[in-house]
Amino acid sequence: MKIRALTAPSARSGLSFSEMDVNPDGEHDVVIRVTHCGICHSDIHMIDNDWGMSNYPLVPGHEVVGIVEETGRAITHLRSGDRVGFGWQRGACLQCADCLGGNENLCDASQGTITHGYGGFASHLVADGRFAFPLPEGIPSVSAGPLLCAGITVYGGLRSAGMRGGQRIGVIGIGGLGHLAVAFARALGNEVVAFTTSEDKAKFAVDLGAHEAVVHRDGEFDRPPGKPCDIILSTAPASIATSAFVNLLASDGTLCFVGVPDKPLSIDLFPLLVKRRRIMASPIGGRSMITSMLRDADRFGVAPVVETFPMCKADEALEKVRSNRIRYRAVLVA
Ligand SMILES: NC(=O)c1ccc[n+]([C@@H]2O[C@H](COP(=O)([O-])OP(=O)(O)OC[C@H]3O[C@@H](n4cnc5c(N)ncnc54)[C@H](OP(=O)(O)O)[C@@H]3O)[C@@H](O)[C@H]2O)c1
Ligand SMILES: [Zn+2]
Ligand SMILES: [Zn+2]
Repeated sequence: MKIRALTAPSARSGLSFSEMDVNPDGEHDVVIRVTHCGICHSDIHMIDNDWGMSNYPLVPGHEVVGIVEETGRAITHLRSGDRVGFGWQRGACLQCADCLGGNENLCDASQGTITHGYGGFASHLVADGRFAFPLPEGIPSVSAGPLLCAGITVYGGLRSAGMRGGQRIGVIGIGGLGHLAVAFARALGNEVVAFTTSEDKAKFAVDLGAHEAVVHRDGEFDRPPGKPCDIILSTAPASIATSAFVNLLASDGTLCFVGVPDKPLSIDLFPLLVKRRRIMASPIGGRSMITSMLRDADRFGVAPVVETFPMCKADEALEKVRSNRIRYRAVLVA
């Protein structure tokens, strides 16, 4: 079938509409008519080939919301007309220990929505229906997309780092991922401290539920943050002053990266050793984690703060994300 999609022809180029061929496999694929698609910073890393793994023409978009139009023979949990969300992952082997353990996101055969096919900046997304999630009625379509990548990434990262409520959680970077991390951590019963490089976001972070907001730059803080944190989640898409944040962790505390630094980490071991602290990183979340995240977002009213743009203004929206001027997630509307 033919779809109309916004494509990047090469690294760091603008997007333009093209007609593309896609072929549903008839078995597991679903055809989703896209109504909304969030813009994640990973779309920008991919458009710019920051990770050296982009294939062109590239169709970005992995925070997809739409209506199912067709389902393959083996798809029984979805019907034509259902409203679904689709995130970063479009495939996995579904047979390895990770997949069987509910961690499809860790599968060696994992396939990305925009690394192994065309993404959601398009009229339609054609992809494996086993990675499409029916959306709870209480979550509006304009809010749902960002939950499918930003939301699950911070929810999965915090859960995997040991968040269970009653802890002190730090969040570095109050962007698309970070503002949802503040909201989830607060809704799930934690004390939250937001770390931002943007002074205007400090008040917003508190309005969103943070108990404290600290402005940071190059490992310096505008004032000493209060008590140590049990978990600090970094959502920054660039390198941070890792040692300065390790020093803010409690004993047995965890610094968890979900944002991707642009340089290898360089860290003195002693601040980790003497307090038995850990550093980890976490990719998105498995299917059962996504289902739990959607349930908690619905139950606690966790929703992204969005700026909407028509699909044809995608370049304008991407530029605002690149320059850290989006407040707080850009969503393209078909
Ligand atoms: N692990 C995963 O599975 C996964 C999934 C999705 C995205 N990601 C990655 O997560 C990162 C964030 O994505 P996003 O969509 O949230 O991006 P975003 O909306 O651009 O937000 C990132 C925030 O990080 C802060 N920041 C930006 N540049 C910085 C710098 N040089 N130093 C320190 N802080 C900086 C800014 O917050 P302040 O203004 O508050 O400082 C910015 O708003 C990206 O690297 C993306 O690829 C990973
Ligand atoms: Zn993403
Ligand atoms: Zn697997």
